Amino acid sequence: MIKAELEKIAVNVKQYPDDRLPEIALVGRSNVGKSSFINSLLNRKNLAKTSSKPGKTRTINFYNIDGRLRLVDLPGYGFAQVSKKEKERWGYIIEEYLNTRRNLVEVIQLVDIRHEPTEQDLMMYNWIRTFGFAGIVIATKADKISKGKYQKNIKIIKDKLQIEDLNLILPYSSSNYINRDKIWSLIQNILIK
Ligand code: GTP
Ligand code: MG
Repeated sequence: MIKAELEKIAVNVKQYPDDRLPEIALVGRSNVGKSSFINSLLNRKNLAKTSSKPGKTRTINFYNIDGRLRLVDLPGYGFAQVSKKEKERWGYIIEEYLNTRRNLVEVIQLVDIRHEPTEQDLMMYNWIRTFGFAGIVIATKADKISKGKYQKNIKIIKDKLQIEDLNLILPYSSSNYINRDKIWSLIQNILIK
C-alpha cells in the first residue's frame, strides 16, 4: 500500500506547506469526483472526504504521498446552489493556489464522461495550458456509461476543450479502476521531468 496522509488543510497562502515538494492539483466542477479520484488512486476508501452532494471540499487539502509528492484536492467550481459570496470565496481559494504555488508541477482536470464540458471547464483548461502545464484530463464516472460509448464521449470532450494530444485524456472510474496504472505512469513521468 502507498503511504499517504492528509498533511495540511489550508484556505490561504500562509497555511500552505512550506517546502519544495512537487504538487499535482485536482480541479473540476463540484461533485465531479476529485476527492474520490484521490481515494481510488491510493486504494483508500475514506482518506479524502466525499459526498453525493456537491460542495463537500471547501478547503485546500494537501495529501502527502510517501514523502515524494502531494496530491492537492481543491474545492469544486460551478456549484449553483451556494451564495454569490461563497462562490467568490471558493473561486478565490482556488485561484490563489493556482496562481501563486511554486510547488505546482501539473494540474489534473476532471470532467464527467457523460457530459460536454462547461464554459467554466473550458476556461480552466485554457488557464492550465496557458500556464505551461501539459493538462491531463480525466473523464470520470466512466462506469456510468457502456464501453461502446467511450470513444464518442471522449471526442466530445476533446473537441470542446481543444485537447491536442489524445494521450492526455483518459476515461476513468473511481469504482472500477480503469486506466489507474496509466495515470500513475503519467504522474511518474511528471515527477522525473
Ligand atoms: P466537491 O468536493 O464537492 O467539489 O466534489 P468532488 O469533485 O470531490 O466529488 P466527490 O469525490 O465527493 O464525489 C461526488 C460523488 O460522485 C460521490 O457520491 C461519489 O461517490 C461519486 N463518484 C465519484 N467518482 C465516481 C465514479 O467514478 N463513478 C461513480 N459511479 N460515482 C463516482
Ligand atoms: Mg471534493
